[in-house]
Amino acid sequence: MGQLHEGAAGRTGGTGAGRRLYELLRRQMSDGTLAAGSRVASTRALAAEFGVSRTTVTAVYEQLAAEGFIVTAAGRVARVASQLVPAAAHRVGRRETSAPKLSAFGHRVGKMLLSALPAGEPCRIDFLYGAVASRDFPTLPWRRAYQAALALHQPRLYYAPPEGDGALRRALQGYLARARGLSCDAGQVIIVHGSQQAIDLCARVLLDPGDSFAFEDPGYLMARRCFEATGATLLPVPVDESGLDTSRLPDEPTVRLAYTTPSHQFPLGAMLPIARRRELLQWAARRRAWIIEDDYDGEFRYGQRPIDALQAIDTEGRVIYVGTFSKALSPQLRLGYLVLPPALVAVFRQAKRLTDRHAPVLEQLALASLIDSGAYERHVRRVRRENERRRMALLQAIARHLPADAHAVGTAAGLHVVLWLPSLRQGDEAAVVAAARERGVGVYALSPLYARPSSRDRPPGAGLILGYASLGVEQIHQGMRSLGAAVAALQPAGHITPRRRQGTTGRGG
Ligand SMILES: Cc1ncc(COP(=O)(O)O)c(C=O)c1O
Repeated sequence: MGQLHEGAAGRTGGTGAGRRLYELLRRQMSDGTLAAGSRVASTRALAAEFGVSRTTVTAVYEQLAAEGFIVTAAGRVARVASQLVPAAAHRVGRRETSAPKLSAFGHRVGKMLLSALPAGEPCRIDFLYGAVASRDFPTLPWRRAYQAALALHQPRLYYAPPEGDGALRRALQGYLARARGLSCDAGQVIIVHGSQQAIDLCARVLLDPGDSFAFEDPGYLMARRCFEATGATLLPVPVDESGLDTSRLPDEPTVRLAYTTPSHQFPLGAMLPIARRRELLQWAARRRAWIIEDDYDGEFRYGQRPIDALQAIDTEGRVIYVGTFSKALSPQLRLGYLVLPPALVAVFRQAKRLTDRHAPVLEQLALASLIDSGAYERHVRRVRRENERRRMALLQAIARHLPADAHAVGTAAGLHVVLWLPSLRQGDEAAVVAAARERGVGVYALSPLYARPSSRDRPPGAGLILGYASLGVEQIHQGMRSLGAAVAALQPAGHITPRRRQGTTGRGG
């Protein structure tokens, strides 16, 4: 190898490119990635792929041939030597069967149950929670804003500040004041890769093994798992028809934070009333704990104006506000933001920088111009109307096709409802999901969102979570008709109570 260093690299002007290429090819032949007897790439192709001259590639091939790794003959394509047996160490590595050595974090994450991503044949009609309709995306305004961002002159391309683009943070400051009653300084805002990264940063910056965290039960699994991954202990707090039951917040001295979804409890859908909001803030002040307010679908409240964020009435600087563009634009954008109490700004900027430097700049610029021009808020109003239609269709279809005791909760806001089926048992959820799937309809069991699925705080009966933001009105009707048939097939004989009248079934807000 040293020989090549002197030889190939030397012959190509000592750039080191020849040496790196040599080492790469040699490694791939040794570990079997380039199989014995297989053809090696032409000097022209390899030179183009690695951005080196053909002379460099020729020198590398000569070296490999001299060492017996490849066989060349005039007028024939070069091949990996057929006697070449992959090195034992590499073979063992590839076939390793014993558990790899991991950190404690790695062990915790590896063992975690996360909901499966949809795989295989998609359902004909999928009430997949978290999906939004691609036709709702503002393609034209987005394309224009993105192209304008692309055309902006930058003297050079270098990393941007970790907290995100100033124009977007200022635009958000104005938007949050108008839409969420939240008054903050642009300096408190950090742009992140969706709520998920916001929550992950909170977990890593605020929790240690041995600490504990209060968490809504049922609650958002992807957030719970982030906190659990730190090694901190989960303290589930029951949720009732008014949301987080603040009278049951934990008093453990180890508790460092509480995660909550006060505008639209996920998944049950209640809006946390003002008395409970105050109680929660007082608890946090007393315990010197942080509150993570996940305002994931705050834009989508039907009938009334969206209520103000919890952070808007926080006078003690305990609330970390988390927002996302996953609902109003697309979950694939991976754009969200944190509004931090001033005391946390510096450390979160550092943590964001260590994690991934910063969010993508062009997307941030495009979004800033959409918000500044008013196009974003027009878009949100339009999508809210679309989702209002879907929601009405869903409630009507439930009333028409499901048993009389079936009822949807959390209907006043958001992009999903929870459907309770009291005449089935909690243990029937998997059977309903499977029976619906056989009819081409995707619905999702509620129980996995409970940390304590057998607790007495959980209402009896089967629960389903139905997301409707990606479906058309007709699909929603068809889907509920099929779900009705699936439920009827599972009902104990004589228990079928179809509805005769039409109407909505919304109960809890
Ligand atoms: C409670 C809750 N928070 C946040 C999100 C959005 O996450 P992200 O912004 O990472 O896409 C969701 C998405 O389904 C959610 O249900």
